[in-house]
Amino acid sequence: MYNLLKGKRGIIFGALDANSIAWKTAERVHEEGGTFVLTNAPIAMRMGTIGELASKTGSQIVPADATSVDDLENLVLKSMEILGGKIDFVLHSIGMSVNVRKGMHYTAENYDFTAKGWDVSALSFHKVMSVLYKHQAMNEWGSIVALTYMAAQRVFPDYNDMADNKAYLESVARSFGYFFGRDYKVRVNTISQSPTPTTAGTGVKGFDGFFAYADKMSPLGNATAQECADYTVSLFSDLTKKVTLQNLYHDGGFSNMGVSNMVMDTFMENQSE
Ligand SMILES: NC(=O)c1ccc[n+]([C@@H]2O[C@H](COP(=O)([O-])OP(=O)(O)OC[C@H]3O[C@@H](n4cnc5c(N)ncnc54)[C@H](O)[C@@H]3O)[C@@H](O)[C@H]2O)c1
Repeated sequence: MYNLLKGKRGIIFGALDANSIAWKTAERVHEEGGTFVLTNAPIAMRMGTIGELASKTGSQIVPADATSVDDLENLVLKSMEILGGKIDFVLHSIGMSVNVRKGMHYTAENYDFTAKGWDVSALSFHKVMSVLYKHQAMNEWGSIVALTYMAAQRVFPDYNDMADNKAYLESVARSFGYFFGRDYKVRVNTISQSPTPTTAGTGVKGFDGFFAYADKMSPLGNATAQECADYTVSLFSDLTKKVTLQNLYHDGGFSNMGVSNMVMDTFMENQSE
């Protein structure tokens, strides 16, 4: 451990269970000396095991539905009180599509479901930043990170409306990041993570297929949740102070590949059968 986050305070959204990327990140941040408040939707709290993580990391939990500005106001003000000062880092690790959950095809979305999924997965990032900005809750050289997926740039048919939500999320990171940088010297980035076996990840139809495909395509193999936590810690640290408005691929090289020998070999084997 490097004490990279010693003295830094933060808010971590989205730890549901031990597979969650936010869970692994909370553990890594704790190891690096950071202190934080954990938050999740009230309903997720009943389903998940977040209490275990809180006691392990000496953290308090403040429930908040990330679509509710009132909940977010309460969360931000309480967090500053609990942590004893302004915030240095925020992780937005939230995603949910009602269309995916209910098995609606992309070509025949239920638009009420679409609006709900967009609010949870994408607009919530704007809401979080808007509340932080309004209350001047971030310290100078603070860092805000949201997690995204490459379906924002390329077609992954079963990712459904989450592809559009991620495109919106990445755009919000740039647009809000400008104002946060200009006014408060705070950086805002998204990390575009490999397919990862979590509750949200495995909820996508055909997950096993595109997990295996991405792994065979990437020269370094898929990035794990643990490795994503490491990368996020680096973005929260003072070693990346001038990195902002970026969508950063954390995917073993997948995003720049055309085809790999391993994928081609598998494809040719199937052809000859
Ligand atoms: N798993 C993957 O393959 C993968 C790949 C790239 C990016 N991501 C992104 O990583 C992030 C974290 O997902 P994960 O894979 O760790 O899965 P996860 O299911 O463990 O986490 C998703 C979290 O979103 C929370 N959430 C849902 N609705 C909410 C609301 N209204 N308010 C507050 N929180 C709410 C859930 O309770 C849960 O904790 C998501 O943004 C996801 O899209 C995941």
